[in-house]
This record gives sequence, C-alpha cells and structure tokens, in this order.
Amino acid sequence: MIVQAESPILEVHDLIVSYEQSPVLWNVDLTLPQGQLIGILGPNGAGKSTLIKAIMGLVNPTGGFVKIFDKSLEEVRSRISYVPQRESVDWNFPASVLDVVMMGTYGKLGLFRRPGKKEKEIALASLDKVGMSAFINRQISELSGGQQQRVFLARALAQDADLYLMDEPFAGVDMATETAIFELLKQMTQEGKTVIVVHHDIYSAMNYFNWIIMLNLHLVASGPKEIVVTEELLRKTYGGKLNLLSKVSELVRKQSFNPLKS
Ligand SMILES: Nc1ncnc2c1ncn2[C@@H]1O[C@H](COP(=O)(O)OP(=O)(O)O)[C@@H](O)[C@H]1O
Ligand SMILES: [Mg+2]
Repeated sequence: MIVQAESPILEVHDLIVSYEQSPVLWNVDLTLPQGQLIGILGPNGAGKSTLIKAIMGLVNPTGGFVKIFDKSLEEVRSRISYVPQRESVDWNFPASVLDVVMMGTYGKLGLFRRPGKKEKEIALASLDKVGMSAFINRQISELSGGQQQRVFLARALAQDADLYLMDEPFAGVDMATETAIFELLKQMTQEGKTVIVVHHDIYSAMNYFNWIIMLNLHLVASGPKEIVVTEELLRKTYGGKLNLLSKVSELVRKQSFNPLKS
C-alpha cells in the first residue's frame, strides 16, 4: 500500500538499483511529506541502505530518478544530512570527537571561511544533546561503537539540515539515549525538518515514527503508520514470524485509539 504525500519533499520514481547486474531495488516509487519522522523498515539485505544511498546520489540507479525539494541533488546537498551505517566508516581516521562534529558545520560556511567560535559552540551544544560532552578531545578510534554512533548523531545535529537521512543510527546505542534522541528528532520535525531513519526494531519503530516505509527489494508500503502497519504488509515485508508481527499491528491499532498519543 503506497500512500502519496501532498506537496512532497522527496520523490523517488521507478527506482531500480543493481549491484553486478542483479537488482536489489525493483521499481521503488514513493513520495514523502515534509516535517515527518519517517521510518524505513525491512529485513537484512532488503535494500534499505541502498535506497538511502540512491537518494544521496552515492549509488547510480539503473533506472528511475530521485527529486528532493523539487530540485536536483547538487542544488540542495547542503540542506541534507546523511548519517551512514557505522560499519561503513573508517573509524581509525585520526580525528577528535570535536573535530568530527565541527565538520558538520562546514557545509553552511562557504568556501573561504574557517570554523570559529560560533561553530564550536554549535558543535559543543550538539555533543551535549547526545550526552558526549565528556569526550570532546577523545580520538574517535578510542570510542565504543555506541559512542561513535552518538558522535555521528551530534555531527548531523550540528549540520542543521532540512532533511536528515540516518542509516541505523541507534545500533549499539543504549535505550535511554535512543529515547532521548528520538525526542530530539521529534522536536526537529515539529520545526519543519524531515527525518528519515532506517531502524532495526519494529516494536520501537511503532512508537517513534508517524510515517512508515516497508521494503524488501520491492516497496511493500509507504504511508502514515495507522494506515500501512497491518499484519498482512508486515508479513509481506518480513516473511514468517507471524506471532510477532500480529502483536506489532495490534499494538498500532491500540495506539490509534489512544487520544493521548503523539
Ligand atoms: N556494494 C555492493 N556490491 C554488491 N552487493 C551489494 C553491495 N551493497 C549491498 N549489496 C547487496 O545488496 C543487497 C541490499 O543491501 P543493503 O541495501 O545494504 O540492505 P539493508 O541495508 O536493507 O540490509 C544485499 O543483498 C547486499 O548484499
Ligand atoms: Mg543497511
């Protein structure tokens, strides 16, 4: 079930991406609204990272195209923040925590301005938001996986973008930090920013996101959570494990009757 967004911020049309001849994304076609917290769900190898990379122009599609803010990617790149999957990054690169987060502010600086006091303040505030203030001078190679992930989130926050694409940003991050950061992301969407997150845990996804994309090489669903999270579509996305999946859709159904939910 594909729900189209009115005046979409991001459009993906007939997207096909192949690695070594074999397609991993088949005709993905969706439009996404502005100012929403959007979750991408799907099993391992479903093409979630590939979809994000295609949106960022990091892989070349075999077919189809992507449009962001109704413009080409080059025109809007500085308004987009990308958090890659932690495993895909070289953490032995010599840089301190503060350096990495400061890098997030560079896009707004233009070519000839050096980062100064203001940028440092932004970086420090962002590190504070993810609870990493105590580590500013630490080399990134000397952090735990969860801490590295939080530094990456801080860098994205420092960037102050309009569109965020985050690939499993909570892998290895403790539950309290995850919840706190989701609260932050929610605030950002209330300010009109759009946040797209690949998320591995379907239970917490039901609490966090208001728009859900389900992917398994083909696009199974894209739309408001209350509409697209059904047992049938979850089964189509994940295959078996029926008990688990019926529990999830039941959870969503209950929530949609709760007037206090966000
Ligand atoms: N650079 C690559 N070269 C070849 N195959 C790849 C490459 N990257 C991903 N794949 C394959 O494409 C499929 C989708 O991968 P990916 O987008 O990383 O899935 P997900 O993020 O949902 O786990 C997987 O089968 C993966 O092995
Ligand atoms: Mg992935």
